[in-house]
Amino acid sequence: MNLLSIETSCDETAISIMSFDENQTKNKEIEFEVLSNKVLSQINIHREFGGVFPNLAKREHSRNIVKIFTKCLKESNLYIEKETENLKNTEKIKLLLNKEEEMYLELIDLFKKIKKPNIKAIAVTSGPGLAPALWVGVNFAKAISIFWNIDIYEINHMEGHIVSALVSPLSEKKYILKNFESPAISLLISGGHTEIISFDKIGNYKKIGQTLDDAVGEAFDKVARSLSLPYPGGPEISKIAEKARENNLKIEKEHKLPRPMLFSKNLDFSFSGLKTAVMYKIKEMRNNKINEKEIKNIISFDFENSVTEILLKKVRGALEKTNAKSLLIGGGVIANKHIKEAFTKFRKDEAFNLYIPQNFLTGDNAFMIGVVGILKILNNKKSEDIINIQAKSNWNVEEI
Ligand code: KG4
Ligand code: ZN
Repeated sequence: MNLLSIETSCDETAISIMSFDENQTKNKEIEFEVLSNKVLSQINIHREFGGVFPNLAKREHSRNIVKIFTKCLKESNLYIEKETENLKNTEKIKLLLNKEEEMYLELIDLFKKIKKPNIKAIAVTSGPGLAPALWVGVNFAKAISIFWNIDIYEINHMEGHIVSALVSPLSEKKYILKNFESPAISLLISGGHTEIISFDKIGNYKKIGQTLDDAVGEAFDKVARSLSLPYPGGPEISKIAEKARENNLKIEKEHKLPRPMLFSKNLDFSFSGLKTAVMYKIKEMRNNKINEKEIKNIISFDFENSVTEILLKKVRGALEKTNAKSLLIGGGVIANKHIKEAFTKFRKDEAFNLYIPQNFLTGDNAFMIGVVGILKILNNKKSEDIINIQAKSNWNVEEI
């Protein structure tokens, strides 16, 4: 069967279409084929403001989503034109999309033009994320579901990041979802979240650690901003730190940043103090006439080191506490080369299985939402009350 998946929780408009055998044995590694997978990033639009603006994100999602969907249908050979039909019974859809006029008109135009595509289910991110942005994806899914009579599966974005680590390519378009040894933990590190989750099976999660303030990606972005580097700051800081590391940069004692919560007994994080310490250090260095380039090098390098040490320490604690046999990492920040290498090295010294997502699955995407969708379909977890599906901006993974 073919599955359409939709992701609009933040600043990426993403759609993917996958095909899989719905009769495959549940406990085996799940196989699927990706017919189309597209991500449109709004980064260039938000960069000007140094962060993501929810209403701007919403506007961009509704402007682009039908076009991306159309491209995906074409790429999947599911776009089959028919003689233009005058549609009746579109009142329900009009009402549903009354705040998304542009999307409504484009969608109706598409419905008039093409035959019902061979899509049996829709998986849509309904939380957590920015409410206005989430609503676009949810309403888009509902409109398609109502018009073509297709089932909807509501997907938790963080669960998407968790399972993304288990995806492994077989060939250009074919993938498997690997099994993992239980108990397991997942470290989720993104722009909005920093959490450690413990679980024995997919779908049954317990949060055992989280940030008390800023998320780690957010800290990268804020530190980058204090250094006048563009948004998003993670890749920028990482590039500079990488060079500094290659050049064996030595950090003077007075320039060293703190490692907040490194020795606290729990598994929680706090990055807001680190961000404040960075701001003080920058001010101090500027007062001492250290040149800007040098400041960028020192701060980026030691900030990345500090974050890496904290993440490793907390994960070590979580592995000890839960006796986990597997560690799955997910979220945009695991694109960071140094953090990835640190975990790979740590894995060599310890006895657990490490799962890190392919680079294209670290940031937000609809692929990972589709993968969770496949699991939900195999477990019969469809939404019974489509019209009442809501965007749940604070949907906790513990409440799936
Ligand atoms: O998962 P994601 O794409 O979106 C959210 O759900 O938040 O994560 C985005 C975050 C941003 O804060 C970005 O700066 C960070 O991931 N990021 C990185 C790197 N690439 C992206 N942080 C550190 N190093 C990187 N290479
Ligand atoms: Zn994300």
